[in-house]
Amino acid sequence: MAYEIRAFKLSDKPQILEIARRTWGGHDHLPHVIDKWIADPNSHLYVMDHESRVVSVANLKVIEAGRTGWMEGLRVHPRYRKRGLGALMTQHVVKVGSDLGVERLRLTAALDNRPSLKLAREIGMSERFRMSVLWKGVSEARAWKHESVPIRKIDSDRTFDALREAVDLLPGNVVVYYWYALDATQENLREIGKVADFWEGRREGRTVSVSVGLAAEEGDERLWSCTIYAIDLDAFLSNLSHHLQLAKQLKLPGLMCIHQLAFEAAYKQVAWLKRGGHRMRLGLFEKQLFSRSG
Ligand SMILES: CC(C)(COP(=O)(O)OP(=O)(O)OC[C@H]1O[C@@H](n2cnc3c(N)ncnc32)[C@H](O)[C@@H]1OP(=O)(O)O)[C@@H](O)C(=O)NCCC(=O)NCCS
Repeated sequence: MAYEIRAFKLSDKPQILEIARRTWGGHDHLPHVIDKWIADPNSHLYVMDHESRVVSVANLKVIEAGRTGWMEGLRVHPRYRKRGLGALMTQHVVKVGSDLGVERLRLTAALDNRPSLKLAREIGMSERFRMSVLWKGVSEARAWKHESVPIRKIDSDRTFDALREAVDLLPGNVVVYYWYALDATQENLREIGKVADFWEGRREGRTVSVSVGLAAEEGDERLWSCTIYAIDLDAFLSNLSHHLQLAKQLKLPGLMCIHQLAFEAAYKQVAWLKRGGHRMRLGLFEKQLFSRSG
């Protein structure tokens, strides 16, 4: 009973959506992005067939002018897990990236996703850095506000300058936004600016926080996803408070906040952060394939 990996065909879509529906209790963002992958000439979408049935899917998106192969969307149908199929798909994607000549492969994964981490390590990926992720219902915050640092919206070019001024704000000089991550080059920030917005917090004439935010959907759930980089807790909470207000204005029920590990301290200090919600840590994994010439 052979398993065959082949390029995606439009007729596979319903079966892929079915796999997503059975993943993470239906909170999978794949159904909301699959049409973009299908339409994107830089996306290389593969499925695994078994007895005329799609049992797995994975995408490799070539980004950063061909430099990076972004690995995403690996799913194995729950009934077919733990048979080595995830490993076969992962190895296939590595070969595709290698054949396309990308310099490196990257992915983000939840650090509590043991099979995912195993797969990343098996192909020789190493963890560049990790971030904390917090999901909370917006209504839980009630009237909470923290406004000691003024926050203003900025464009992608100002973001580039702010990040250069506030050195060491970004781990690995990489901007994480939602489940994605890009090096903080001017070009990449402009790319991110097409799907997200940026904000800056300034205290005494210097940048003390930079954030990126966008609306997203996971299953039936709509949420506001923000990543906040800050130099201290006060700067972090001011930026978080701003994003909470944005989520409220947009009537989005959920907030997903990605932040430096140090601000997990806020979970003990701020009343509405103490209760419930979902927390995890996210890692950026990377495998170098070729080194840049010239
Ligand atoms: C992650 C996923 C793709 C793995 O697929 P899979 O076909 O079950 O993976 P494999 O059978 O190839 O297993 C890979 C490794 O993980 C281990 N593993 C699999 N499931 C595991 C589990 N639940 N807990 C711990 N280890 C697990 C396997 O033992 C194997 O390790 P080994 O080579 O040392 O034996 C699948 O679990 C899945 O679709 N999960 C939901 C979506 C997801 O998390 N996608 C990846 C994140 S982007």
